[in-house]
Amino acid sequence: MITLFDPKTDIDLGTPARDSQVQVTLNIDGRSISVPEGTSVMRAAALLGTTIPKLCATDSLEAFGSCRMCLVEIDGMRGYPASCTTPVTEGMTVHTQTPKLATLRRNVMELYISDHPLDCLTCSANGNCELQTVAGQVGLREVRYGYEGENHLEDVKDTSNPYFDYDPSKCIVCNRCVRACEETQGTFALTITGRGFESRVAAAGGDNFLDSECVSCGACVQACPTATLMEKSVVELGQPERSVITTCAYCGVGCSFRAEMKGDQLVRMVPDKNGQANHGHSCVKGRFAWGYATHPDRITKPMIRKHISDPWQEVSWDEAVTYAASEFRRLQQKYGRDSIGGITSSRCTNEETYLVQKLVRAAFGNNNVDTCARVCHSPTGYGLKQTLGESAGTQSFDSVMQADVILVMGANPSDAHPVFASQLKRRLREGARLIVIDPRRIDLVDTVHARAEYHLALRPGTNVAMLNALAHVIITEGLQNQAFIDARCEGSDFATWSEFVSRAENSPEALGPICGVPAADIRAAARLYATGGNAAIYYGLGVTEHSQGSTSVMGIANLAMATGNIGREGVGVNPLRGQNNVQGSCDMGSFPHELPGYRHISNEVVRAQFEQAWNVTLQPDPGLRIPNMFESALAGSFKGLYCQGEDIAQSDPNTQHVTAALSAMECVVVQDIFLNETAKFAHVFLPGSSFLEKDGTFTNAERRISRVRKVMDPLGGKADWEGTVALANALGYPMNYTHPSQIMDEIASLTPTFTNVSYAALDSHGSLQWPCNAEAPDGTPTMHIEEFVRGKGRFMLTGYVPTEEKVNSRYPLLLTTGRILSQYNVGAQTRRTDNVAWHDEDRLEIHPTDAESRGINEGDWVGIGSRAGQTVLRARITERVAPGVVYTTFHFPESGANVITTDNSDWATNCPEYKVTAVEVSRVYHPSEWQKRFQEFSDEQHRLLKDRGRGAKAEVRR
Ligand code: SF4
Ligand code: SF4
Ligand code: SF4
Ligand code: FES
Repeated sequence: MITLFDPKTDIDLGTPARDSQVQVTLNIDGRSISVPEGTSVMRAAALLGTTIPKLCATDSLEAFGSCRMCLVEIDGMRGYPASCTTPVTEGMTVHTQTPKLATLRRNVMELYISDHPLDCLTCSANGNCELQTVAGQVGLREVRYGYEGENHLEDVKDTSNPYFDYDPSKCIVCNRCVRACEETQGTFALTITGRGFESRVAAAGGDNFLDSECVSCGACVQACPTATLMEKSVVELGQPERSVITTCAYCGVGCSFRAEMKGDQLVRMVPDKNGQANHGHSCVKGRFAWGYATHPDRITKPMIRKHISDPWQEVSWDEAVTYAASEFRRLQQKYGRDSIGGITSSRCTNEETYLVQKLVRAAFGNNNVDTCARVCHSPTGYGLKQTLGESAGTQSFDSVMQADVILVMGANPSDAHPVFASQLKRRLREGARLIVIDPRRIDLVDTVHARAEYHLALRPGTNVAMLNALAHVIITEGLQNQAFIDARCEGSDFATWSEFVSRAENSPEALGPICGVPAADIRAAARLYATGGNAAIYYGLGVTEHSQGSTSVMGIANLAMATGNIGREGVGVNPLRGQNNVQGSCDMGSFPHELPGYRHISNEVVRAQFEQAWNVTLQPDPGLRIPNMFESALAGSFKGLYCQGEDIAQSDPNTQHVTAALSAMECVVVQDIFLNETAKFAHVFLPGSSFLEKDGTFTNAERRISRVRKVMDPLGGKADWEGTVALANALGYPMNYTHPSQIMDEIASLTPTFTNVSYAALDSHGSLQWPCNAEAPDGTPTMHIEEFVRGKGRFMLTGYVPTEEKVNSRYPLLLTTGRILSQYNVGAQTRRTDNVAWHDEDRLEIHPTDAESRGINEGDWVGIGSRAGQTVLRARITERVAPGVVYTTFHFPESGANVITTDNSDWATNCPEYKVTAVEVSRVYHPSEWQKRFQEFSDEQHRLLKDRGRGAKAEVRR
């Protein structure tokens, strides 16, 4: 019996799989095999376990047929066809190992080796080089040609990229890197220049890799069969010896990686080809920007201090948690049970997040728990729950490959969700049509071989008006899917909504001028969305971080329901989550009003289940949200905070308000890997653990729960969940977990959408998308298929209410904010990596017209003033922003981007209105007053950290 190799393993089958119902049977070296029509001879042979030598073929890329190593003989066919480019046919008889083939392959290999340095023993790829392997396979023992004459052995290395080298002397011009950059990444940064012997790989748009259009995703490095493109970490540390599958800790795509180790040292991160969210691809952050994990700035000892002006004292874990617990209890005795609270982290694991909210509810005895999702996707939770019945996206990322029309609104996937962006671009190259709704001319608007058919460059703050105008066109032109609406949605709500959007006041002609977009473009985009086939909406923080963020999310869900674009592949409503575990932190009950699984704390039945499991009485009323915690702190009633893995002093709006609130607290406990901005206001510092130092799970934007696996011991002695366990026990609330799998078992037992989730199930499935329970034991890739989670879909009224943040003669420009590819969120991790080579400061993007009228030149320092505060950045003059709009990233604390954002927020969820701030910009020569104060305070805190003492605990305790 013939056993096929499991294609899910890491074996390279040479060419990609083909998806066909038609099976073709052929004979290879006397053995029969059936494969889908369109499969290559090479892949069919590999499935049989037969190795055909190859150099230019790999199963992540379409065959190219250039190296001539994979020649075979086929009965009835002349010559020696390349098996990688020859598709199977019914009844074909193939011979892969004949004396003639052996000679031909040896001759070809001889030519390659004659222009290749013979430094195998000292080469960084030694033992993991396909050229070396194939030379062995073909039995090459000697090379008849000398090194005289022309060769490339003296070609100069390009070491400009901080993470990988390009050594052209080792290049065999197989084109795999070029194809990886095109097919996998979609950047098209590489070309082969010259012909024949002169052929060389070149990075377009610059003299070297760093200056070129390359975005350092590393796909070419992974595809290269030789040491030509090679990670610097491998050159430095040598080939890895073992690997552990884990999940990226950066963005909400949730890429799966093999952490390749040598002893306890991480050598490289290689995207896992079996990863269900990323299929073997990655971006620069996940693949390369992991150096922060062992950065010297890591704080690895617990510390305490009485006042934030005191030097830190290093103490043991026991002493630190005992001190924190005694302070929390003291505060509760003095100021009341509700005077303390906690913040969970969207960067930590589900298990850790669950434990923090459990600690707050069970050990603090209140519901004062919130999460950073408050400041990003809380409107998603609210808006989708109201309309569809579940606070989560509806699709898998792979679903985009079935979409005919893709509407991207308020999101910039190329920078913030790069691996999904690559998949999306591939679909666009296949012919899907694109609508972008964004104030900025983001990369997707005009990318290589794909461009947006409509870019509706709306004025910041007018999303709801835009969505209503789109809905108006759909309803008044009769483009809705009435059969879907009748079968799947609440009829009376639809009637009310359709009457509302049909009003003249909601027409593109009425709302277009408010949005700053021609009515004709809105009409055309609406028609395309409604009638172009499968239409999928992807949205981001440009939708949620507004005073009407929740209204916009409901407006998006309305559009999808009205057109029947929900409940199957290729359609849906897809929030692109920012941080790695935003979805998970929300799922795990991090909001003050919800227990895990989005069940309201006031629900007696649900509360009783948790009370029994946790052996406590729970408070029935929602606790404080983050902004309420700040207000209460300033009012004197909120005095203590446990903040795990979050940097609220940098990430939350109106920085001066936040820092004043933190300064007003008596016990701030920060658990983090670095002395972040919040920790500068802390009294207890608990060393956090990086994702490499713990077990757990993350849940990505497609509800996919993936394992995080420990590859090294926590530098600070405890994983974050162990720190929470220690704190709970010190507070007198027993927690006895010895492994995160036990925490997940508890989550599963208490959360209906997680019933079938366990570490064993995750190990066997690779990952699982919730709901995962008796009805869906293998998880749920697409939601709302037969009916909505809430039963019938509910159209919600979405009246447009302009934000209070208005431009006037004093603040005539609108500032909006966003991310850049190389940096992540508050930048605490990526700023401590070589990613600063691409972005080492936040800049203010300003349109040439606005710059000229203010006498601002490229690179000038400019003051940005809003009603909330002032800061100074350098200017970048660009037409990516429209006149009247300025834009900046927020990755560097000294930029003070959130000093100028106001504390306006979403009406339903308090999500801050980061995306709209009225500002004025002018040329300046000095930092702002806030920046001067920030620098002084920061310097002082670093001095107190540097001077940290040991063994002076008594001083603190008094
Ligand atoms: S750099 Fe590597 S992948 Fe690219 S052509 Fe040369 S050998 Fe092939
Ligand atoms: S690193 Fe990525 S973007 Fe850069 S050349 Fe390689 S494949 Fe292209
Ligand atoms: S796309 Fe996101 S999850 Fe994937 S490697 Fe990049 S940062 Fe990590
Ligand atoms: S592997 Fe088929 S021609 Fe290179």
